[in-house]
Amino acid sequence: MRSTNAVAGAMLATLLGAAWLAPSPATAQQAAQVTYARDIAPILQRSCERCHRASSLAPMSLQSYQEARRWASRIKERTQLRDQSGVMPPWFVERDVGIQHFANDEALSEHEIGLIAAWADSGAPEGNRADLPAPLVWPSSPSWDIGEPDLVVDLPSFTMEANAPDWWGVIDRAATGLTEDRHVAAMQVLEISDAEGGMGGKFIFHHAILTSTVPGGRGGGPFWPVHEVGRNAQHFDPEASPLLRAGSAFFISSAHMHSNDVTTTAHLRLGFKFHPRGYQPSKSELMLTFGNGEIDLAPMRKGQEIHLYHTLEQNMKVTSFEPHMHASGVRMCFEAIWAGRTETLNCVGYDHDWVKVYSYDPDHAPLLPAGTLVHMIAYFDTTEDNENVVDPRNWQGLGHRSIDNMAITFLPGITLTDEEFAAEIARRRQVHGLAEGEAMLGCPLCGYATVPAVQQ
Ligand code: HEC
Repeated sequence: MRSTNAVAGAMLATLLGAAWLAPSPATAQQAAQVTYARDIAPILQRSCERCHRASSLAPMSLQSYQEARRWASRIKERTQLRDQSGVMPPWFVERDVGIQHFANDEALSEHEIGLIAAWADSGAPEGNRADLPAPLVWPSSPSWDIGEPDLVVDLPSFTMEANAPDWWGVIDRAATGLTEDRHVAAMQVLEISDAEGGMGGKFIFHHAILTSTVPGGRGGGPFWPVHEVGRNAQHFDPEASPLLRAGSAFFISSAHMHSNDVTTTAHLRLGFKFHPRGYQPSKSELMLTFGNGEIDLAPMRKGQEIHLYHTLEQNMKVTSFEPHMHASGVRMCFEAIWAGRTETLNCVGYDHDWVKVYSYDPDHAPLLPAGTLVHMIAYFDTTEDNENVVDPRNWQGLGHRSIDNMAITFLPGITLTDEEFAAEIARRRQVHGLAEGEAMLGCPLCGYATVPAVQQ
């Protein structure tokens, strides 16, 4: 015979089960209660305001409830694009393939995207003002993502007339005023319009190859990141930082200027964060760049591919991945092929308005043995679905103009001797607690306590 207690227990379980299955009024109410003050304002502050505020580069401010409410449905639309062109914030790493750990990740989480959608769908309520986070204080000009720089260098201004043809050339030098050699930890380039507040017409610098020289020197400075329209900050691997020499000057050895339909005068402002004095890099840096060659794109066709290959001569830790294409580029995938094993390390969307660099989290950065075949697949869409294509009826080949094409990869990283490589693999195995035979994406040898010898 069942005891009363057991029956009561069974009844309770049934009740609890029922309560768990049926959406209770309380839960539905909670979902409807996503509010601007409590849930949305913190997301906009962290991920949007640096661009969406007065005196920055986005077309509208999202700093107050009135502003955010007006844009609620567009905010929902743009944040739901995930890795597609037009996504906000602009960050195009595909989430269902490849390495998902980046040091400079800007993407919203699925939870945040869901909150925004629920908020927009429920009439964008303000909620309780007492829940509002304290407002952020922003400078009156475009701001740094690397923190306040230790050194700022303003290069000479350039004026691009409305509707002028593209211009290529050299832009003269500016002295850094640096009086001692310093190692650079991070670097960012801002395009500053000479209009009030630093923001005038949209960008006119398509790209700028930045070169540093020292007095009496013959160039030969480090390979600095190439500035490109919409590009984010670069953090160098802490083990292999470039050296900026005392007395250096910067000039743009190859500038490509592009009219934005409004006569605009602007210049590049370089910001540098230094390592502490006395810092010494322990490894050698490598700026691996490869690509281009013949490009032959049919008009009005999606899914056209260009394949780029490079065999690594040394062991390499890849610190960042930066695809470079032009207007019809829409995606690039990064594969590593080693000893018959192929891995897709990342696929990222590409929007030529935002040339992004994706910096790996140091514990997830690809660790590729010498002999690895690096394979990049660049995807192009020349149809009118690609808003960046001016005239889909044109054949497109290789060229410097944005309406012509390129397919290049910048892979900054560091080279590792066999001993350094083995030590880095041992560290990885420890950080991730990898068992024997358990490799990790981007590190084909991480599954081995003893690195097997391979005939190259
Ligand atoms: C790196 C700068 C930057 C960041 C960060 C950023 N935006 Fe934007 N946003 C822009 C620029 C520039 C435009 C205009 C160009 C375009 O429409 O793509 C824009 C456009 C938009 C638009 C479309 C406006 C229209 O005219 O329809 C929306 C909506 C938007 N952003 C929302 C957001 C939200 C929400 C966030 C944060 C989750 C965000 N953005 C983060 C720079 C940024």
